[in-house]
Amino acid sequence: MKKLLARFRRAARGSSIGYFIQPRKVRFEWQDTPIDWIPQQPFASYFINEINMILPAGEFWFCRLYNKVLPQIQDEKLKQDVQAFIRQEAMHAQAHNSANKDYLTERQIDIQRNISLMNGLFNQLLADRPLGLQLPQWSERHWDLFRLGIVATVEHMTCVLGKYALYNREWQRQGADPAMLDLVKWHGAEEIEHRTVAFDLYRHLGGSYLARYNLSLLVIAGVIGLWVDGAAHIMRQDPRYASIRPALYKPWIWREWYRTAQANNGLLPSPFWLVSQQLGYLMPWYDPLHEAKTEDALAYLQASPAAQRAQLKVA
Ligand SMILES: [Fe+2]
Ligand SMILES: [Fe+2]
Repeated sequence: MKKLLARFRRAARGSSIGYFIQPRKVRFEWQDTPIDWIPQQPFASYFINEINMILPAGEFWFCRLYNKVLPQIQDEKLKQDVQAFIRQEAMHAQAHNSANKDYLTERQIDIQRNISLMNGLFNQLLADRPLGLQLPQWSERHWDLFRLGIVATVEHMTCVLGKYALYNREWQRQGADPAMLDLVKWHGAEEIEHRTVAFDLYRHLGGSYLARYNLSLLVIAGVIGLWVDGAAHIMRQDPRYASIRPALYKPWIWREWYRTAQANNGLLPSPFWLVSQQLGYLMPWYDPLHEAKTEDALAYLQASPAAQRAQLKVA
């Protein structure tokens, strides 16, 4: 019990990590990456490619929101964590945008519909002024806290997915394209490295334990729905799926997701596994520090070809 209370107090105080998060520059080259970046696995390739469209608008939104609340942070170390987090997320968004522009668009995939959907969600609905409405002053703090709670919940998911990506061996075993493999693993490793920041900030600014339940339901349904809908849209453009016409509301895409996850020894995380990973987040003793191993993430980041390429360019 004493230990539990000590853990609560430590997390509420401010930063829960002793190490310093390191923002890194990266550079990806997409000229050799095929649409089926996992050979003969179009479903898994499209499904993972969809994250390039889902992430940038949300990550830039994290940065804007965190910059807005930065002056309210009382703990110096947490402030430094948040500043490093902002720089990492901005780099993630740029890296995925480079894949949208120099890889998917170059291969005649329409990305605009999915990107517009995400822009509408993050730039309008979840903006400081939702849908252009000026909120009353008394509600501004609640609106910020609600949005910080969304970020903390999403960051739990990105940590879980980051772990999945970092330890995945099957993509490589099936001959996955090195650039896309590195993008997914580099991003996953940095999600692990900064996994405590959103949760620490949410608690530091007064986020409640109970709100995590509602936010968790909202976020898991929203992320999975947007992911499947976006993946269906890019698959529909491929003649191989012409007869199926994948869509969010058709059982086919859900069955195929589950089948691909089960049949291939780790090409995709199963939807059930993904939902089950939210349970830990709902526990009163949840501590993101215990969700993953920072040293494994740092070991990958040291060796990431994209990070090394950017360093060479700077040198
Ligand atoms: Fe990210
Ligand atoms: Fe993140």
